[in-house]
Amino acid sequence: MLHHEKWKVYNPQGNRRVIVTKELPGERWIEILMQADCRVEVCTSTEILGIDEIRSAIGDRCSGAIGQLTEAWGDELFSVLKKAGGIAYSNYAVGYNNLDIGAATRHGISVGNTPGVLTETTAEMTVALTFAAARRVVEADRFTREGRYHGWLPNLFLGELLNRKTVGVIGAGRIGAAYARMMVEGHKMDLVYYDLYRNNNLEEDIAAYADFLRSRGEQPVTCRKMESIEGLLQTADLVSLHPILDETTHHLIDAGRLELMKKNAILINASRGPLIDEEALVNHCRNNPDFRAGLDVFEDEPDLKPGLVELDNVVIVPHLGSATIWTRQSMAILAAGNVAGILRRYPAWKGDSVSPFLEDDPPEAAPSILNAEEMGIPKYSG
Ligand code: DGY
Repeated sequence: MLHHEKWKVYNPQGNRRVIVTKELPGERWIEILMQADCRVEVCTSTEILGIDEIRSAIGDRCSGAIGQLTEAWGDELFSVLKKAGGIAYSNYAVGYNNLDIGAATRHGISVGNTPGVLTETTAEMTVALTFAAARRVVEADRFTREGRYHGWLPNLFLGELLNRKTVGVIGAGRIGAAYARMMVEGHKMDLVYYDLYRNNNLEEDIAAYADFLRSRGEQPVTCRKMESIEGLLQTADLVSLHPILDETTHHLIDAGRLELMKKNAILINASRGPLIDEEALVNHCRNNPDFRAGLDVFEDEPDLKPGLVELDNVVIVPHLGSATIWTRQSMAILAAGNVAGILRRYPAWKGDSVSPFLEDDPPEAAPSILNAEEMGIPKYSG
């Protein structure tokens, strides 16, 4: 049971009680909930809450909740929320592998997420990890701080040049495609991608960029949708993972697939940890010192598999893909908008772009409800 002092209350006289399991950046999101007559109770602890703690925070009267990707919102919690009179939940994340949406629907709870405001931010972090790994930035930083730099040397920390090499993207959705564009347009890399669906926009953009290069007398870049993950792994110098995590993508990269990659390839994961068999990755990096990896996410987050931290050819950061002030504030606005929108019986937003919700005078809609159709929530038509 959490102590009372771990919860901060905004608008205590509000009629609809909403719990928020972590403090969120910015203030606009609190105003959105207050305008919807909510009493907002925010957990100020940085500890990850367990099911029992969330259950007791919901209590016997709660209209809605904003939760985190570190919490398992399944049948148990949605049933508790339902019994407390709840109808709205939003993940403070675009990913939702921590949710059982079917269970939420069965309990009559609308479930939201926060797409559209993390795309470039997460792609930029993926680029940061890419170059940190390719150019051995973290290793070299450590070396310099330790006072071991005694003068320029021709062989000091040689890394990999990425310009004009081949980038492989697995999962060419919003973030994967943004990363692909950054690497192709910024570093003139050829692209190979694997996805269940063809990404026509991405292919057209790269074709236009290839035309531009041709018009300047430069060699054009190429873009190829691969038939198999194996083919992509064998071809690419750099591979970045961007599929959603579900039972079909768990351990998508295992020991066998790592063996297919070039000995000096780079593997980046800023999506979800269990996409990679982390133990196999540790072994692979240990046996192949020229292979490099950049990881923002881990299989058993926040724990790391034994041996990972000892590896100089792996760069690790603590799930920071979306960690910019603008993105995290915008995610808070969307999460609050999802909960407030459902409590106010607003329709579900229809458009792809959530930008209108970040402006003054946002639409009277819930920005992103994942089970809107199943819940019979009408589409916004304003
Ligand atoms: C998400 O939103 O799914 C990210 O992993 C965290 O921002």
